[in-house]
Formats: sequence, C-alpha cells, structure tokens
Amino acid sequence: MSAAKTYRVGIIGGGAIAQACHIPGYVRNADVQLVALADPDPARLRELSALDPTIRAYTEPLAMLAQEKLDIVSVCSPNAFHAQQTVDALKAGCHVLCEKPMAVSLSETDAMIAAAKSARRKLMVGFTHRLFSGPRKCRELLDEKAIGKPFMIRVRFAHGGPFPGWAKSRWFYDPKLAAGGALLDMGIHAIDLCLWLMGPIVSVSARTATLVKRIPVDDNAVMLLEFKSGALGYIEVGWTSKPGFAGCEIYGTEGSLICDYLKGLHMVGGVVSASGKDTHDWRLIERHPTEGGWKIEIDHWLDVVRGKEKLTMDGKAGRAALRVALAAYESSKSGKRVALDKE
Ligand SMILES: NC(=O)c1ccc[n+]([C@@H]2O[C@H](COP(=O)([O-])OP(=O)(O)OC[C@H]3O[C@@H](n4cnc5c(N)ncnc54)[C@H](O)[C@@H]3O)[C@@H](O)[C@H]2O)c1
Repeated sequence: MSAAKTYRVGIIGGGAIAQACHIPGYVRNADVQLVALADPDPARLRELSALDPTIRAYTEPLAMLAQEKLDIVSVCSPNAFHAQQTVDALKAGCHVLCEKPMAVSLSETDAMIAAAKSARRKLMVGFTHRLFSGPRKCRELLDEKAIGKPFMIRVRFAHGGPFPGWAKSRWFYDPKLAAGGALLDMGIHAIDLCLWLMGPIVSVSARTATLVKRIPVDDNAVMLLEFKSGALGYIEVGWTSKPGFAGCEIYGTEGSLICDYLKGLHMVGGVVSASGKDTHDWRLIERHPTEGGWKIEIDHWLDVVRGKEKLTMDGKAGRAALRVALAAYESSKSGKRVALDKE
C-alpha cells in the first residue's frame, strides 16, 4: 500500500491572519508539512522562527517558490500583492488559498482564474464567513425553503478597525496597498455572503464615508442591493463600531432567520401586524453562530485539495464579490445606482 502524499506548504505574508488561521491550520494536519514562509519584514520572519525554527524563512516569495517545490501556497499578504503572488504560485504548480479580497481589479481576477485553469491547480478565496455555523445553517434552511421565498437580507459586519489591535502594521489604511477601506475589507465578506445566500446581484447603490478615523480610506459604508430574484438587500460595514449587532437577517414569505453572531441564530415565525397584535415564535437554531470559521478553514481547504470537498469559494466567487464591491465604490463616487449587467 503506498503511503499517503505529504503536501509541502508555503505561506506568503506571515502577519495576523497567517498566525491566527493558516499556520495553526496547516500545522495540525498530519499529511501536511509547513516548510517555508516568505515575508519582506525581517522582524516578522524572526517572530515566526521563534515559533517554529524548522520553517525556512524567505524575504522574497519568488525565491521560496523556486527553491521549495511546494504543493500548496497560502497568500496572506496585503491586498495589492494577492494577484501577482497567486499567479506566481499557480505557475510554480501550487494549489493556492488566497486571502480576501481576491485582488484589487477585475482584470487581476481574470488573470488568476486563467492561471489556475492553465496550471490545472485549485484556487480558493478565504471567505471565512461561509464557514461559520450560523451562515451555513441559514444556507441549509434556505435550500429547504424553511422561510418560504426570501425577499430581504440585511448584513452588518463592524468592529473598531484592523489597526491597532489586529494587523501587524497600518497597511489597511494605505490606499495603494489596501485599495479600499471598510467596504473592501469587511464588505467583501458581506457581499460574498449575500451572493451565496440570495443569488446574483443585479445592481448596487452605495455610500462610503470616513466618519471617525483620520485615514485616507473609508471607515464606514452602506450598500443597497437588488438581486436577480427580485429580492433587496442592505449591507452596513464599519471600522469604528462600538459593540452592537453583527450578523445577518433574512426575511422570507414564511418566516425570518435572525443570525446574531453574539446571541445565536433564531428562526422566527408568527405574525407582526400593524395593529400591534403580534405573535412571535423564536426557535433557537444555533447558540454559537461563529463556530467554525478560521478553525476549520484550512481543514476545508485541504479537503478541497484532496478532492474530498467541492471547491465553491473559487475564483469565480472571488471575482463576483469584487465586482460588486468595485461597483459600490463607483456608485458612492457618482451618486448613482450601478447596474451589473450580465457579462
Ligand atoms: N479571511 C479573513 O477573515 C481575514 C481576516 C483578516 C485579514 N484577512 C486578509 O489577509 C491579508 C493579510 O492581512 P493581515 O490582517 O494578516 O495583515 P498583517 O499586517 O497582520 O500581515 C500582513 C503581512 O504581510 C507582509 N507583507 C507586506 N508586504 C508583503 C509582500 N509584498 N509579500 C509578502 N508579504 C508581505 C507584512 O510584513 C505582514 O507580515 C489581507 O488581504 C486581509 O484582507 C482576511
């Protein structure tokens, strides 16, 4: 009997998300060897060597790709580098898990998708919210038509901002490296969730603003979505939020799904009437809707590579979410609704 293949893994960008999700995810898988990491910051490489001296450190991703004969690469660098590094890794014969947003322009996403196709390698985008237990259950319930026909979705993802307290430096606030603010960073997760749960989006109107932080990118945004199904959607994202609601709400003709990331996922039945004579039937479906996420992302990705799970968070999904985000920036600038015609 031949021994199971051992996957040789490299990571590009060794900051917060690499340390919180990718590194621990790879390290706990027996058929995976995390062999190398590339990051231009020598301090970061020293920090990672202290964690595990067996991981070889590179300041140049291309040098890592040339020398290490990797099977899998995670791209965890700032947004502006995702496309080139993903294409380089695919051309080197690796399967690639690229962090969100997939890239900063649609032409970049096209090049990434084409590179994956010609290399016959898998390309997945890190849409972590799809791996949370709450949204997963919502998707199951929508598939079962548990709330009838969904006609409205609201999503709110907001926190105090990625720096300080999360990222290793201020790059999230640099338009050249991030290519957007809260709308691109948090909004891309929310948009992906809307596409996944409700189907294609045909138009977007948006308003971005820098309300609180002194930064050159947006720290808050709202988006109004129109779905191909006729449903409407509303997204609010922010980097200046005090604790409050985070999660999604989906309203259907037969009931509602209230997925409050802090308080649980409930399916709500009953009637709310204009007279105020209401009946509410709240059923707790999931106590902890954010179970999963980063904790299972790498296991899911490895199962995709092994062919045990279907690749759904693919380049097409990454491109579709970016297309809506870029249209939202365009709408905010022009003050006009942007139609997303069929391509
Ligand atoms: N899926 C999620 O939930 C999630 C959460 C946070 C961040 N992210 C994404 O992960 C990516 C990294 O974010 P982060 O929070 O880890 O930021 P971070 O600042 O903590 O880490 C970024 C790392 O990239 C390194 N770097 C800078 N330029 C580089 C280059 N040219 N090549 C390789 N590495 C380079 C930096 O030195 C740093 O170590 C971003 O695209 C972000 O949107 C995803």
